[in-house]
Amino acid sequence: MSVYARIRGTGSHLPERVVTNEELERLVETSDRWIRERTGIAQRHVVADGETCGDIATRAAEAAMEAAGVGPGDIDLLILATSTPDQVFPSTACLIQHRLGIPGGAIAFDIAAACSGFIYALDAADRFIRTGGARRALVIGAETFSRILNWEDRGTCVLFGDGAGAVILEADETPGVLSTHLHSDGRQEPLLNVPWGVSKGVEALMSDPASGKVTMRGNEVFKIAVRTLGAVVEETLAANGLERGDIDWLVPHQANIRIMAATARKLELPMDRVVVTVDRHGNTSAASIPLALDVAVRDGRIQPGQLLLLEAFGAGFTWGSALVRF
Ligand code: UT7
Repeated sequence: MSVYARIRGTGSHLPERVVTNEELERLVETSDRWIRERTGIAQRHVVADGETCGDIATRAAEAAMEAAGVGPGDIDLLILATSTPDQVFPSTACLIQHRLGIPGGAIAFDIAAACSGFIYALDAADRFIRTGGARRALVIGAETFSRILNWEDRGTCVLFGDGAGAVILEADETPGVLSTHLHSDGRQEPLLNVPWGVSKGVEALMSDPASGKVTMRGNEVFKIAVRTLGAVVEETLAANGLERGDIDWLVPHQANIRIMAATARKLELPMDRVVVTVDRHGNTSAASIPLALDVAVRDGRIQPGQLLLLEAFGAGFTWGSALVRF
């Protein structure tokens, strides 16, 4: 008998502080109108002093566990997708394991795939479950991009926000995750990166503090993202023998409303079948898909049995998709 991974519950958490476009107008040469028109973003959430990725991830995980009706002792796999971990080591997943009281002996690790991180983590958890390596997985996407933004760069600081989303995946006889499709291509790394990392040493960061912040050639990334996401949704439909329009909900990475609209057009889906949270959350990188999923599950739009297409594109470049029967 085949074993599949099914989503049993979702949860999310947003930091309390909201930063509006008007606030950013006072920081850099920008306007509420430009940000809304070019990105669809009206506001984003930002962590408080001392609040970390692990803090907001733990809150999202608790909400997902409650929704699924599972306790810490039921979880045998924890994967956190993030590019903004709390410490160099151990993984933030291990810190969260301890905080949640998930028993020692479970598997916990982080995945770094930038904005595609949640799709990568979902793919990994699905493989663990289908091959009998785990029965119940907590999969989290959480980011504190506000810590790695150059607040003087209007080309990036208006785009990102902080947040966390989580799902509980469980072994089941009926299919949940139907297929996943992952890709990477490191050749265009300079178009979107944070060029500093610990292997370069803290001295390198101190002599060039900007190297610890996000840099992006936005317009070039935009064009590649639209083209690449169009191809990966085609790949997903073909792999499952589906027609455009068979999808109930597109739950895309929330980078830019214009990118989401282009993918929806490719799928011949009206925008009211696309879960959009970029207006309120901004781009929360690896957290954006599980956050959007949780919003649409809790407000009743996403119903059991419906077919969801999740897709993301981000630094690396990395990109991917997942077709899920909810
Ligand atoms: O999540 C990971 C993947 N990331 C993405 O997918 C992001 C992809 N990129 C984008 O979403 C868009 O490219 C942006 C929203 C970043 C930029 O939109 P765009 O339509 O590609 O604008 P642009 O970069 O071509 O810039 C157009 C103009 C420029 O001025 P000039 O040279 O035409 O005078 C920019 O300097 O807009 C200017 N600009 C701004 N103006 C006001 C750039 N940022 C701002 C700003 N406010 N915040």
